[in-house]
Amino acid sequence: MNLLDRLFSREIERRTGAHAVNVYVDYNTKAKAKLRSVGAQTLQSASKTKVITKKNQGSLFHRLDVRFPWLKLATIVIVGVIAIIDLLDFTISQIGDPVNTIRIAPMSHHVRATNRDYTNKKLVALTFDDGPSAATTPQLLDVLSEKDVLATFFMLGSAARNQPELVKRAKKEGHEIASHTMYHQNLIRIPFATASDDVKESSAVFTNILGQDVSLVRPPYGNTNSAISGLINKPLILWSVDTEDWLHKNASESVRIAMSQVYDGAIILMHDIYPSSVEAVPTLIDTLREAGYEFVTVPELAKFRHAKLKNSEVYYSIRP
Ligand code: NI
Repeated sequence: MNLLDRLFSREIERRTGAHAVNVYVDYNTKAKAKLRSVGAQTLQSASKTKVITKKNQGSLFHRLDVRFPWLKLATIVIVGVIAIIDLLDFTISQIGDPVNTIRIAPMSHHVRATNRDYTNKKLVALTFDDGPSAATTPQLLDVLSEKDVLATFFMLGSAARNQPELVKRAKKEGHEIASHTMYHQNLIRIPFATASDDVKESSAVFTNILGQDVSLVRPPYGNTNSAISGLINKPLILWSVDTEDWLHKNASESVRIAMSQVYDGAIILMHDIYPSSVEAVPTLIDTLREAGYEFVTVPELAKFRHAKLKNSEVYYSIRP
């Protein structure tokens, strides 16, 4: 019994008699219990109400939507802008990369040379036979590279087989690799079957070294007939200017002969197995350049003259 109860009960006792105290206390206890009970019910129903309220209010997104009606539109706009910026970045990088590659990629000296256009120019094709030779061909390749000149090499299959790295180097540096047959036999003076074996063996050697057969052939001594031309079944490239370098073995004589016979579209014959021939090349190139000539491989000569080289046909030059 607390102080207030005690005061009340004393006052009631004074007015009504002692028994009233117990009545009040009893009543008061019941009332408190009732209050507690009501309080518990209120809490219970309040929590029930809360649960019901939660359910009625729906999902977080729904409540956000109700509370911030502009939020959905704003989100769509922001995501859209990000997507467009991202797409633009992607497109720019897609366009940008190949441009950069073209600009910064190391470009070979000779790739540039083969992309040149010499239509309507004075052209000459330097051709070198009977190699490659470990003693002289590397020096010739150095000279040609230094002078930025591409030539055509009519190599012997037997020599190529011994110097595959030289064949690959010449090819890599942009020169045209062609066949001068396997063993330099006079094809029209030997049995056809022997000639056939020679041609096949040569093709096999070049295919083995380069991964593909050559496309042009120069028969030894320039000797061919319809049977041999048919057997070779590739364009047969002879020459229009013979420097006779193999005969005189004199550098200045090679230059003199070449300059006295050259014309637009001429094919010049030399041999890269003689030091005197290689020695003639720098002067020959300079002199021909002074005379207005550009240097091309045989396929280029045909290309710039819009000529299609035909199998089993013989060519000495390709004039304009
Ligand atoms: Ni020869």
